[in-house]
Amino acid sequence: MINIGIIGYGYWGPNLVRNFAETPGATVAAVADLDKAKLELVQRRYPAVKTTTDFRDLLNDSSIDAIAVATPVSTHFELGMAALKAGKHLWLEKPMAETSLQARKLVDEADRRKRTLIVDHTFIYTGAVRKMGEIIKSGDLGRVYYYDSIRVNLGLFQRDVSVISDLAVHDFSILDYLVGEHPVAVSASGINHFPGTPENLAYITLFYDSGTIAHANVSWLAPVKVRQILVGGSKKMITYDDLEPSEKIKIYDKGVSFTDDPKQIQEMRVGYRTGDMWAPKLAVTEALRVEGEHFVDCIAHGKVPETDGRLGVRVVELIEAATSSMRGKGETMYIKRLEKAA
Ligand SMILES: NC(=O)c1ccc[n+]([C@@H]2O[C@H](COP(=O)([O-])OP(=O)(O)OC[C@H]3O[C@@H](n4cnc5c(N)ncnc54)[C@H](O)[C@@H]3O)[C@@H](O)[C@H]2O)c1
Repeated sequence: MINIGIIGYGYWGPNLVRNFAETPGATVAAVADLDKAKLELVQRRYPAVKTTTDFRDLLNDSSIDAIAVATPVSTHFELGMAALKAGKHLWLEKPMAETSLQARKLVDEADRRKRTLIVDHTFIYTGAVRKMGEIIKSGDLGRVYYYDSIRVNLGLFQRDVSVISDLAVHDFSILDYLVGEHPVAVSASGINHFPGTPENLAYITLFYDSGTIAHANVSWLAPVKVRQILVGGSKKMITYDDLEPSEKIKIYDKGVSFTDDPKQIQEMRVGYRTGDMWAPKLAVTEALRVEGEHFVDCIAHGKVPETDGRLGVRVVELIEAATSSMRGKGETMYIKRLEKAA
């Protein structure tokens, strides 16, 4: 049985507590939050779970094997490092840290102490993203031409990070999973309409060596919630609407072909193919539940999590590059890889 302590019971923390409470092989031992009113909610819902306003109580409790950190991003490094130094396995919310240097230090510390480090890039555990990965990896889609995402709604405005860290982070992790290649460059533009707060909308383009191009439109200032992704390949195309209750993924047997017949050189040489559309059956288990069971399995059997700290580092590197580009009004940033923490 893996005993888990959770730090942070704001918007996302309750989802972690609920899922770990139902995960076979796991027990929620304690929850820490600075806000006593949040802890009262925990006590009402889970009377057997200990609560405290001091996260150090969780670190000093030798019966706790793993800590999940669901606090604002600006606190992840300090809390995550303290948990690893106390010998705990670590679940860190996305993005894993504010800087790639901090993220790399967390990975090094977990390696040194042989602790499991998972970063909660939740989308990787959804039936929809897994199905898209399966289709792309099988070659059915052909070469990936583009990935185009719209991830907008009204709020939730964050105080410590921009909309890139909050929302585009999902696209960065999904792309890492689907494309299996790190982008070579990024260009982003964005704006902050409210002085003193981070950028609230951004348009980000990622360039890959293979020729794939990816774009994400992220915003906290949209009147409606949209979660749509298009992936276009040389053989087929996919649409993914995360708000669809069923049939989230649709695969279109559509595409174009170009002729190199010299007789047609003066004409439009493009042919359009339109075939069937189908919506594959998707796994319906809640992603956090899949991920929670995976975390417990990784701890118990010394496995490397699918969304390990190294993925977390790659994502933070993209956030940094996109943020620099955005602050330089779209200047192209080439992605630097930091191999070792100082
Ligand atoms: N995986 C996902 O899809 C997903 C979705 C939403 C949020 N998140 C992530 O979850 C994290 C938390 O986001 P949120 O929206 O729940 O934030 P929130 O502000 O609603 O909640 C954070 C909670 O942490 C508590 N807290 C802060 N510092 C603390 C400390 N030192 N000790 C104990 N408690 C402390 C606060 O009192 C608050 O209750 C962020 O990293 C965010 O990116 C992930």
